Amino acid sequence: MDHFLYRNGILHAEDVPIPEIVAAVGTPVYVYSAATLTRHFRLFDEALGAMPHLVCFAIKSNSNLAVLKLLGSLGAGMDVVSGGEYRRAKAAGVPGERIVFSGVGKTPEEIRLALTGGIRQFNVESEPELLAISRIAAELGLRAPVALRVNPDVDAQTHEKIATGKSENKFGIPIAKARDVYAMAAALPGIEVIGIDVHIGSQLTQLEPFEAAFRKVRALTEALRADGHDIRRLDLGGGLGIPYTRSNEAPPLPVEYVGVIRETLGDLGCEIEIEPGRLISGNAGILVSSVIYLKEGEGRNFLIVDAAMNDLVRPSMYGAWHDIVPVLEPAPGTPLAPLDVVGPVCETGDTFARARALPPLAAEDVVAFRSAGAYGAVMASEYNSRPLVPEVLVSGDQFAVIRPRPSFEEMLGRDTIPEWL
Ligand code: LLP
Repeated sequence: MDHFLYRNGILHAEDVPIPEIVAAVGTPVYVYSAATLTRHFRLFDEALGAMPHLVCFAIKSNSNLAVLKLLGSLGAGMDVVSGGEYRRAKAAGVPGERIVFSGVGKTPEEIRLALTGGIRQFNVESEPELLAISRIAAELGLRAPVALRVNPDVDAQTHEKIATGKSENKFGIPIAKARDVYAMAAALPGIEVIGIDVHIGSQLTQLEPFEAAFRKVRALTEALRADGHDIRRLDLGGGLGIPYTRSNEAPPLPVEYVGVIRETLGDLGCEIEIEPGRLISGNAGILVSSVIYLKEGEGRNFLIVDAAMNDLVRPSMYGAWHDIVPVLEPAPGTPLAPLDVVGPVCETGDTFARARALPPLAAEDVVAFRSAGAYGAVMASEYNSRPLVPEVLVSGDQFAVIRPRPSFEEMLGRDTIPEWL
């Protein structure tokens, strides 16, 4: 459920009519709903209930400071994967003890930044990284709290570009090798082993892969405890999928996902961390775009909109399906006709949808791409010298621009021409 609904024939974000935002900010623009973000965070937080836990929002899915501030104020922790994301979490007021640092290639600078600024734990992905963290922590006179990310060799049954839990993927330490690496970690001067981390992929629409991975984590917890390690925290990653279409998908609910956690790991006495991104932010955002032209082609018609692959790359990158709805609700019974919805960027990949059944649309009509709050704005670029897409946050009947559209001067002003040219 989200808060983007038609009222009196006009699409609203909570209590704000989308045309009002368009009049103030123009298009394309991302619009987020604070109530939806809040609701989705609480679904996890409340399902975990009395189990000791921390829901760490995966910043990579939506890193706007206002979004982070909102979630942080609800008690969320943050999952960061770069020094930039760590700085964002801090700038949004989230304390280090609620920030976990994931990612396969943390640099010495990033490790130092987190150790000096405060960190809940590093999720470590390799032996060389473990050695680097130990060395830097020891230099600083610290012991770094560490969970090792294990690769459970489980098929997440999701898009190949976002599956991470198979042995052929670049992520984590093979689970079969884990006991040796934990023994090595325990002997390092700058390391304090506190737990286990696992993340098998994103947009998972079934519970079985989670269950298989969590059962392996359980067996490993028992084996490591028998080896003398104090395993007290389990970070189970993110990955729960969302419905992108209105009818044919019904991914498991957070409460069902948490049920699997409870059943597989609930009696181990460990604190549970999860790192959801998409489920919190995905359906809390839409991308609003205006029609530039309707172009009648040979055998197919193209709806050319002012958003493009640089603003929302998911359809061209993963073949992702985003619901497209007109901001003015079509009258009941309006006939639908197939349209290719495309952006102005100069490559065929700049296609949002092919032969999508849509009501009649014409230049200057406004449409919304739904489920665009996760991996939308964060993956935007300036390809074709299109300024970064702005972002707006709605709460009740108020809205605020939380990232303005940069001017062309700002965009050009970042380049410098050497004196010798
Ligand atoms: N934790 C780790 C270690 C991750 O790598 C990820 C996502 C998450 C948590 C959050 O996963 P989520 O709950 O959002 O599924 N750009 C792609 C998705 C990439 C996901 C990368 N890792 C897309 O647009 O589908």
